[in-house]
Amino acid sequence: MLQMTLNGLKVEVEEGMTILEAARFYGINIPTLCYLEGLSPYGACRLCLVEIGAPGPSKLVTSCTYRVEEGLVVRTDSERVVKRRQMLIELYLATCPSSRVIQDLASKYHVTKVRFAPWNEDCILCGLCVRMCAEQMQGKAIGFAGRGSSRRVTTPFDKKSEECRLCGGCMYVCPACQSRCQGPQEEQPLCNACLNLEQPCLDYFDDKMCYMDPCVACELGSNRESQAKR
Ligand code: FES
Repeated sequence: MLQMTLNGLKVEVEEGMTILEAARFYGINIPTLCYLEGLSPYGACRLCLVEIGAPGPSKLVTSCTYRVEEGLVVRTDSERVVKRRQMLIELYLATCPSSRVIQDLASKYHVTKVRFAPWNEDCILCGLCVRMCAEQMQGKAIGFAGRGSSRRVTTPFDKKSEECRLCGGCMYVCPACQSRCQGPQEEQPLCNACLNLEQPCLDYFDDKMCYMDPCVACELGSNRESQAKR
């Protein structure tokens, strides 16, 4: 066991734990977007930042990837940490303004204004969906493509993936709903029809992937059609 100081409390933690795991063990909440227990930490969203070291020469580290050390001093909610989180939340709100998860974070951290121009990507590139598919579902049906501002999550060659088993795990873990149905969009490889609940997609968009099997949208659409005929 190691001794460390967590928000002023002297605590004992197991060697090998991350700061995030230690904090959660002691009931201290640290917000996360790209971390999920059971998936390898990725350190992409930076929301789990904490301050380590004495107040003077301290530094910010991502608690989901930083392992505890003997004598480590950690502050999970210092002014510096909160300010940095607020700025990140602003950025994520600009990227994904309709994400319920990010809206809730904004409310919790009193972020009421966004200084960045909205660009409505609906993806924060946290990689949760990619890791869920590869590590839990052994699928590798989706991955990252492109670099810099063109980086995005997609299927190989933007085509329907033979690896996808329609488990929906990627949608389940997505904090920004990028993979959830957003309505038919011809530019994307995902079907995305079920949210609109319109008769879409599998005939008309036959080279696109639909995660629902059977597709809720198609089912509802055909029910409506048959009711209308009656
Ligand atoms: S949760 Fe640690 S960087 Fe995203």
